[in-house]
Amino acid sequence: MRVLWRAARYLRPYLGYALAALAALVLVNGANLAVPQLVRHLIDRGLRPLQLDAVGQAVLGLLVVALVRGVFNFLQGYWGEVASQGVAFDLRNALFAKIQRLSFSYHDQAQTGRLMTRMTSDVETIRIFFGRGLVWLLGSLFMVLGAVVLLVRMHAALAWRVMFVVPVILGLFTFMVRRLTPISRRIQRELATLNTILHENIVGARLVRAFAREDAERARFAAQNQVLLQQHLTWVRWFTRILPLIFFTTNLAIVVVLWWGGRALFAGDLTVGQLVAFVGYLQFLTMPILNIGMVSNLMARAAASAQRVFEILDAETEVREKPDAIPLPRIRGHVAFDHVTFRYPGSDRDVLHDITFEVQPGEIVAILGETGSGKSTIINLIPRFYDVTAGAVRIDGYDVRDVTLDSLRRQIGIVLQEPTLFSGTIRENIAYGKPDATLDEIMAAAKAAQAHDFIQRLPQGYDTVVGERGVGLSGGQKQRIAIARALLVDPRILILDDSTSAVDAETEHRILQALDRLMEGRTSFVIAQRVATVRRADTILLLHEGRLVAQGPHAHLVHTSPLYVEILASQFGVRPWEVTPSGPEAATTAGAETGV
Ligand SMILES: Nc1ncnc2c1ncn2[C@@H]1O[C@H](COP(=O)(O)OP(=O)(O)O)[C@@H](O)[C@H]1O
Ligand SMILES: [Mg+2]
Repeated sequence: MRVLWRAARYLRPYLGYALAALAALVLVNGANLAVPQLVRHLIDRGLRPLQLDAVGQAVLGLLVVALVRGVFNFLQGYWGEVASQGVAFDLRNALFAKIQRLSFSYHDQAQTGRLMTRMTSDVETIRIFFGRGLVWLLGSLFMVLGAVVLLVRMHAALAWRVMFVVPVILGLFTFMVRRLTPISRRIQRELATLNTILHENIVGARLVRAFAREDAERARFAAQNQVLLQQHLTWVRWFTRILPLIFFTTNLAIVVVLWWGGRALFAGDLTVGQLVAFVGYLQFLTMPILNIGMVSNLMARAAASAQRVFEILDAETEVREKPDAIPLPRIRGHVAFDHVTFRYPGSDRDVLHDITFEVQPGEIVAILGETGSGKSTIINLIPRFYDVTAGAVRIDGYDVRDVTLDSLRRQIGIVLQEPTLFSGTIRENIAYGKPDATLDEIMAAAKAAQAHDFIQRLPQGYDTVVGERGVGLSGGQKQRIAIARALLVDPRILILDDSTSAVDAETEHRILQALDRLMEGRTSFVIAQRVATVRRADTILLLHEGRLVAQGPHAHLVHTSPLYVEILASQFGVRPWEVTPSGPEAATTAGAETGV
């Protein structure tokens, strides 16, 4: 319940609407409570003997009540909705902003489907509780209290005789909440699981078809759907089991009223109008209890949802800017790793051990090593996607933890292993890091990335829409757009993580030639799978199981590192004796023939 209090704080900006809705609610329920009184007035004053002005008063009163109920019911619903939509609006924005700030390590572990559920269905559950549930709850309490007070005021002796319904109903209510709350919570959990399956199947639609797993996936979904249905039915079963008990209790009270009231009537101790009003108020005791049952369901689900939403909002951002972080001035491109050891957050083993190297501005660095040796991890530390566990990463002498993230990352162009395109035109995708770039600049970047030719051949050229619902691009084409995007921001440090793996050797050769010119004055880190790329580097960092086992230019490593020769030979498909310290020209042909 504490989470609901916390969620209620999001109502604060909309307190005006919330209070107005509450006031309207009091008016509506007040009007409801007035009805039996007016009926009593009509019977007692107007009918025996017939008195037209009393009848007129009562009828006028009933008309006013109908009007008040109609108008304020509408207003209460409207204002409640405005306030709760405001809460949902703020929660969604807060979640989105938080997701933007969360560290890479959070996204490594989070399931996309679950995150989506939290952004949408959990926020909606919270909204419905604040928009409707809370109103019903307060309204019901008001009604019960009002009915009890009026009963006692009307005829205390008779009122006390029917008060036995209050503890019985309270008992039933407590029982109901206890029973239903865990079921409601389970419903919300199973719904989240169902959403995850749904999301996985939408994202992985191709994979499902490719392995002909449609039937299996359908069965998995149906099974989970069944679980959800069962929980809903269990809820309904308990609810309907308790329902007759509540009706029975109220009816019992009516019997008591008629029995006692009838005798009091003949004794002249009670009027007909009072008797009718009594029965009316007793019914007011039943309705709210039913409402509260519903509300307990909404409340439990909202609490479960709020807990999940706050889990995200409270998640630690591991990579955080120091309060006194300074903007990194325009860098020259000197990069140094100083005894860097690294382990992924939540993992129990180091993936980088004591890595030390230094790169001069403008150098091309190739990182070489088997899959899983830590190549991607090393380059992830340069833009500070993760913080080192020990040691330091320095750019131009600045520890990356001492500068603002923005100023650091803006000067680094990175092409990730998996290129991502946003839905939009090719032009917008290339200009992602520099939205005000001119078409000339965009074309220049695309030419350097060897993307210009194929873009021109597309139906709408640079204005072709890609991404979701856009034209399909091959992996190599996406990579080249991603390279153009990185080049456009004119970064001092350029990082290509296996960015040319999906293009053919000929295209890679042309990209690298263009990059040769572009890399001038930039420090470049390249993880590539081809001999040509590795050979043209100024320095090669050779990784083995997270350790830096050799570094230096190709000519040097060929003579000094047997592992280097072995990896070149096995990974690039050349025979060890073909690995020679020869220049890039010879390497190009070797690469073209043996490119992986
Ligand atoms: N996000 C992550 N969380 C935990 N461990 C990871 C993560 N990413 C990679 N690893 C582990 O770190 C090691 C190095 O991975 P990586 O740097 O991606 O290798 P490479 O790029 O050389 O193939 C691997 O053993 C891998 O399992
Ligand atoms: Mg990698």
